Amino acid sequence: MSKIVVFDHPLIQHKISLLRDCTTGTRDFRILIEEIATLMGYEALRDLPVGMKEIKTPIETTSAPVITGKTIAVVPILRAGLGMVKGILALVPTAKVGHIGMYRDPETHEPHEYYAKLPESIEERTVMLLDPMLATGGSAVAAVDYLKKQGVKSIKFMSIIAAPEGLSKLILAHPDIEVYVGHLDEKLNENKYIVPGLGDAGDRIFGTI
Ligand code: PRP
Ligand code: URA
Repeated sequence: MSKIVVFDHPLIQHKISLLRDCTTGTRDFRILIEEIATLMGYEALRDLPVGMKEIKTPIETTSAPVITGKTIAVVPILRAGLGMVKGILALVPTAKVGHIGMYRDPETHEPHEYYAKLPESIEERTVMLLDPMLATGGSAVAAVDYLKKQGVKSIKFMSIIAAPEGLSKLILAHPDIEVYVGHLDEKLNENKYIVPGLGDAGDRIFGTI
């Protein structure tokens, strides 16, 4: 069964409310997306493996915990996932970054992959898969399908706002991944947009409305 974390932290909820507000402009929208990604990522990385290392402090030599083991790859789903990358790199600055390009057909709402480039040895890394919006779940499921085909075994999917329909579809298709959601919204509308949502995340990040 998937590990699902839906955040209830007041800082995350406050920032998501600011994101939703249609008077929030491009600059603030970008800053908020990054900040929320960092807050969510802090929790998502809680289980990073640590080992003990001998360190000499000015007082004595001691054994101290350091992060070891599997390395991280950050993989945004283009375009909107790009907005979250810097927020995660603030936590794991040495992580490699891959990209998966996916767009939703405006009529059918089906996802179409148009680009993919992943770091080497991706199968040995834990992938932080980023997309601020989980609507029907089509894009997320297709991106996880693709990563698994490349041999990835450990995936943490992070979305800032999810619809119940998308969350169900994702965990049904991929019960072995971890899913982190900033807020679970009410539903999808007839155009498969999240309600109340925040509109089109990519357009709001890049100012392409
Ligand atoms: C948005 C969003 C997700 C997808 C979610 O991307 O960033 O990738 O829709 O919808 P789904 O769960 O129904 O698949 P979009 O296709 O609008 O592309 P963009 O990021 O380039 O704007
Ligand atoms: N993509 C978005 O950017 N917003 C939605 O509400 C649904 C899909």
